[in-house]
Amino acid sequence: MSDRESVWNTAPTSAPAQRADRYVPGSNAHPAKMLPAIAAHAIRTYTKPGDLVLDPMCGIGTTLVEAIRLHRRALGVEYESRWARLARANVAHTVRQVEQGSGRVVCGDARQLTQHVDADLHGKVALVVTSPPYGRSAHGRVHCTSETGERGVVKTDYRYGRDPHNLAHVTTDQLLDGFSKILVQCRAVLRPGGTVVVTTRPWRTHGELIDLPSAVLAAGRAAGLVPAERCVALLAGIRGNRLIARPSFFQMKNVRDARRQGIPLHLVQHEDVLIFTCPDKPSAVPRPICAHRQQLPKTGRCGYR
Ligand SMILES: C[S@@+](CC[C@H](N)C(=O)[O-])C[C@H]1O[C@@H](n2cnc3c(N)ncnc32)[C@H](O)[C@@H]1O
Repeated sequence: MSDRESVWNTAPTSAPAQRADRYVPGSNAHPAKMLPAIAAHAIRTYTKPGDLVLDPMCGIGTTLVEAIRLHRRALGVEYESRWARLARANVAHTVRQVEQGSGRVVCGDARQLTQHVDADLHGKVALVVTSPPYGRSAHGRVHCTSETGERGVVKTDYRYGRDPHNLAHVTTDQLLDGFSKILVQCRAVLRPGGTVVVTTRPWRTHGELIDLPSAVLAAGRAAGLVPAERCVALLAGIRGNRLIARPSFFQMKNVRDARRQGIPLHLVQHEDVLIFTCPDKPSAVPRPICAHRQQLPKTGRCGYR
């Protein structure tokens, strides 16, 4: 598979194998990291060496690490100081490993992105690669009895933090409003014709499907970005004619439980990748940022994530 198809072969190896010695210890604690190959694929496709790449919600800095490895300049903003510190450590680790490059991480709220990015970089960003948080808690890591001595499995590292203003901790409507604001801010720092790549996963809350990718598409439009493509990034490997799924323990459990009850849920083994371009005219007026609302389902029922 080349880089020309809308299906990105981004999991020929597992996430731990992709991270190997490239990320500092502690990075695994983040509950919703991007698969490094997704960031790398986007950076390779939409930028050239020397270009500036931004992740306004950079977590532990996956986008930044992959950008530096590909000889791009990297800039990140992260709300939680714990993740911002790890992102800085990962940037420093990468610069040491590849013996070149640079990256900067600011701890702050990306809804005020332009205040966190030096004025001389406004209008200079070639590419934004980011993913919104999905849900208050994510799958996290699982430890079994032989590791913990406790009965049953113990789940750790499934929270982004405890700050109620983190966009992971607000309602889906508020998340999308906040994300739209971030995209409006991204427009101010992007160069004309620059690209925004957002990866999202369809996810379930209380058993009901939240079509986050479609809502993000509407949020991007509302922010005045121009939708260009919708691709699929594989989280499963390919061996011969088979997909090799790489589900988390809880994903597998939820799907098994649902199927036992006769609900034919699937293991989600892809990310939707939404690609927007920044209009050439910086003066184009963004649409109202609530435009995505009609697309969101009401939540209800209990069950599976
Ligand atoms: C899906 S995670 C991004 C993970 C990242 N791509 C990585 O690989 O580490 C989303 C991140 O957005 C951060 N976040 C939430 N609200 C934010 C805000 N208002 N401004 C900046 N970052 C925010 C969360 O703390 C979380 O780390």
